[in-house]
Amino acid sequence: MRSLLFVPGDSERKLEKGFAAGADVVIVDLEDSVAPQNKATARDTAASFILEHRGQTSSSIYVRVNDLSTGLTDDDLAALVAARPDGIMLPKSNSGQDVQQLAAKLRVREAENGLTDGAIRILPIITETPAGVLAAATYAGASARLIGLTWGAEDLSAAIGARSARDGQGRYTDVFRHARLTTILAAGAAEVAAIDTVFPNFRDIAAFSTECAEAERDGFTGKMAIHPDQVPVINAAFTPSPDAVSQSAAIVSAFQAAGNPGVVGIDGKMYDRPHLRLAERLLARARAAGVSA
Ligand code: COA
Ligand code: MG
Repeated sequence: MRSLLFVPGDSERKLEKGFAAGADVVIVDLEDSVAPQNKATARDTAASFILEHRGQTSSSIYVRVNDLSTGLTDDDLAALVAARPDGIMLPKSNSGQDVQQLAAKLRVREAENGLTDGAIRILPIITETPAGVLAAATYAGASARLIGLTWGAEDLSAAIGARSARDGQGRYTDVFRHARLTTILAAGAAEVAAIDTVFPNFRDIAAFSTECAEAERDGFTGKMAIHPDQVPVINAAFTPSPDAVSQSAAIVSAFQAAGNPGVVGIDGKMYDRPHLRLAERLLARARAAGVSA
């Protein structure tokens, strides 16, 4: 799950482009990119499009429903679970309890649609409300459906009244840096993927590329996109490089060759258990991306 491309659920044209964009995940959006008066038609458009075109894309299909406080979530699920999405993105999640509430709803819908119990995964956006940021630790162990955690800046800005999430140099201000790093730590604690948020200036590929590289460096394993042009940039940034793969493979082999000790020396440098764990994580990401050692 390196690239996750948002596609407005009420646009067949964009759904078609999105399915062909090469993203690991297409997130069919019923929430903020769909106008309130279009919610009902978006459900129908999205559900029929997914059912008809599922075989024509290699992307996994997630659906972003409207949040639990809107009163729209049940209708979203009623229309979309029948299209058998791989996952549901839950916006404005306030805590692990919201994930559990969604999991209970999904269990019923899965049963009604003849799907395996637990088949549909959950990816919450955990920093869109102030309460959500403060409850980040509650996601660990919340549900076996939890596949990752991601974050967002726009709704948090609106909720706290921040006029901008970035300073004059384009760097996130403190509250948003806090939200970002909280997501990395909460995902680590929950042992699920940390997914970085969107970058709205879709024409600025250079700045986007830098942001992807920084996200990968800091522990995110994927990033959301709002435009097809961002997808290849994300896939490149989050696919381990051949150098990183061979270096990690060398570390794993050195531990194996030495009988799995606590520490080994390679080329005059010490490697102990955390280095082994990091190397194994990177190799797992490489395998998931189809890159082998
Ligand atoms: N998914 C699929 N196709 C998309 C797309 C997306 N996210 N964004 C753009 N495209 C398509 C456009 O429809 C256009 O296709 P066309 O020439 O056949 O009409 C092509 O890619 C080029 O688009 P471009 O002209 O560069 O951008 P735009 O001005 O048409 O669209 C946005 C700009 C921001 C409106 C559009 O990228 C978008 O809708 N993004 C997703 C927004 C979203 O889902 N937000 C919620 C999460 S934050
Ligand atoms: Mg939003």
